[in-house]
Amino acid sequence: MKKGKNLKIIKTINELRAELKNCTEGLIGLVPTMGALHEGHKSLIQKSVEENKYTVVSVFVNPTQFCAGEDLDKYPRTLEADALMCKTCGVDFVFAPNPSEMYKNQKNLTMVCPSFEDVDKLCGKSRIGHFDGVATIVAKLFNIVQPNKAYFGQKDAQQLFIIKKMVQDLNFNIEIVACPIVREESGLALSSRNSYLSEDEHRQAEKISLALRKVKEMFENGINNIMPLTDMVFAILDGMEIEYFEIVDTETFEIYEKTDIIKTGSTALIALRIGTTRLIDNIEL
Ligand code: PAF
Repeated sequence: MKKGKNLKIIKTINELRAELKNCTEGLIGLVPTMGALHEGHKSLIQKSVEENKYTVVSVFVNPTQFCAGEDLDKYPRTLEADALMCKTCGVDFVFAPNPSEMYKNQKNLTMVCPSFEDVDKLCGKSRIGHFDGVATIVAKLFNIVQPNKAYFGQKDAQQLFIIKKMVQDLNFNIEIVACPIVREESGLALSSRNSYLSEDEHRQAEKISLALRKVKEMFENGINNIMPLTDMVFAILDGMEIEYFEIVDTETFEIYEKTDIIKTGSTALIALRIGTTRLIDNIEL
């Protein structure tokens, strides 16, 4: 099959499996997404197209990773535009199932639950059950597609950590490829949820990456304890509803305590709300 010539949009698991049966020679790359594709997704898709003979992009707004009161219903759904981007990038298959296709068994669903220690902090603390939903859908996609490589963005750093760990713990024979955060010129990390922001909220959101860049700058100038970094972040983001600012060891995702000395190989992470929109971002130190 020639890349870019023949994008197929597939709705069912059986149909996708039948197509993939013919993809015997060459690697298969999977880019799992919830659609509303932007330049950040594009960079994952392009990398997969570069590195594999076949690329599958899944577009599925996964209900099990949304908590009560979250934006499941209003999450942007733009399949036509998503398919167009995939076609231009040379994707072979867009897998866009309905929820009933992915979750035939609505009751008593078997879930993949990451370790409590890994989810009971950072985003998992306020989004109870979120990472169980993520791990479950990603494991299902891995079983359906059986890719050689799967591509995830570093913006969702805790998600990436949990997926890497799941792959190791459950012996999936899949290489996880982590792709750098793509930012607007202002520094704001691209996210499908940025579309919820008003102009004024957008201007406020630009301060998140400014605060993170300043953390990196201070760290590089020898400030390696949490308190001055935290004070600076809260000063820049003054008036915003900060959910957390933490620094973790990038390998273990263990959170640094107030008295710890931060080492190189750490990641500083922020989650906050602007109006009703929850945004996250991070930077490696
Ligand atoms: O990062 C996302 O868009 C989602 O959490 C993912 C990995 C596609 C699972 O639904």
